[in-house]
Amino acid sequence: MASPIRIGNTIAGNSILKARAQFPGVQDLTYLDTASRGLMPAEAKLAVDQQVDLHIRGRINKARMFELIERVRTTYSNLIKAHPDEIAFTKNVSEGLNMVASAIPWREGDNVILCPELEHPSNLYPWLHLKKRLGVEVRLLPARVGQVPVDDMIAAIDRKTRIVTCSYVTFAPGLRTDMTRLAEECVARDVMLLVDAAQGVGILDIDMDRVPISAMSVSTQKGLLALYGMGFLYVRNNWAERLHPPFLSRFSVDLGSAHEAAGGSDDYTLMPGARRFEIGNYNFLGAAAVEPGLKIITSLTTKAIEDHVLRLSERLIEGLQVLGLPLFAAQPGKHRAHMVAIGDAIGPQHDATDDPAMQSLYKTFDDNGVRLTIRRGILRVSLHLYNNEEDVDRVIDIAKSWCARPGTAIRP
Ligand SMILES: Cc1ncc(COP(=O)(O)O)c(C=O)c1O
Repeated sequence: MASPIRIGNTIAGNSILKARAQFPGVQDLTYLDTASRGLMPAEAKLAVDQQVDLHIRGRINKARMFELIERVRTTYSNLIKAHPDEIAFTKNVSEGLNMVASAIPWREGDNVILCPELEHPSNLYPWLHLKKRLGVEVRLLPARVGQVPVDDMIAAIDRKTRIVTCSYVTFAPGLRTDMTRLAEECVARDVMLLVDAAQGVGILDIDMDRVPISAMSVSTQKGLLALYGMGFLYVRNNWAERLHPPFLSRFSVDLGSAHEAAGGSDDYTLMPGARRFEIGNYNFLGAAAVEPGLKIITSLTTKAIEDHVLRLSERLIEGLQVLGLPLFAAQPGKHRAHMVAIGDAIGPQHDATDDPAMQSLYKTFDDNGVRLTIRRGILRVSLHLYNNEEDVDRVIDIAKSWCARPGTAIRP
């Protein structure tokens, strides 16, 4: 019998290579754009079709739908090593962040700390709104060489700080925050750390047992390999007890053994943990769509996926450095994640660059079937389990021929 192919000296590497076959999207594209949207596995289409079919034929069984929700909830919680009660279903990252922002019992003089130039607008407007509406002080700190300024954030905390918020991995330039240090300092000061984990969950090994993040918002269209319109909010149990949900309906309250539609009274008890944030019926279709991808991710383990994408990103960095292309914060270190940023400065525009050379390189990739994005003036390459060394080498080869053309140079 042939011995297993060893990638990075692990048999897990072999399983990851095999899992690629479940993603039709990699067959005719070099897909390096998970940071915008992950590819869905073929099985997700079957799961969605089956559910729609039940609706068409009038065969929906509500109890089965709730079983699906609880299965997905448990898988989400296992994925990040949390308890199922610490997971609430949401529509998207923005909703989860806003739910927490509006559940804090704000007091006069309270403040929030964040780094606006690195946050997606999803994690900026909730705080600007609170400033306008309730007079909450919003402390805006500058980035440190493209990274969330963890030390500055810790130094800015005072007795009136209620929330520190940042991205797990920034959407551009795609660097990972030193979450352990920030979370431990927030615990020591009894300050809530709210994390936008749109970039990272499903790809990196995120462990709530080890890292005491208070709350974290995620959506399913990127690392979780599913549709728009579905996400989850993690809230650590001890923090959930201190929050007052802004909306309330039947799923937010503990009805015991009563039917979900049992009449209410003002003597109600909130559901334990994050479940108190759920109100009415769920996005059952979104839950069906995410389950096949979750199965693939959990069977491979996020530890193995993280090792895989880090190895690929190192290979890409080495190849591009040989060509002399500028790369942002490419030196090895804890800040590296599943993204590589071509370019050396973060620009002001969300999805454009005014550097003609960068536009030309982007177009060359696109013309050759390499899908990636321009974000804040850099070319963002993002990886997941379905990428392999061939994808990376293809990017390097295309970049090499582009560099060989006369007159191509990315502005220093
Ligand atoms: C860091 C980050 N936060 C939030 C979002 C968007 O969140 P939502 O799911 O609310 O659209 C994105 C990308 O779309 C993102 O990259």
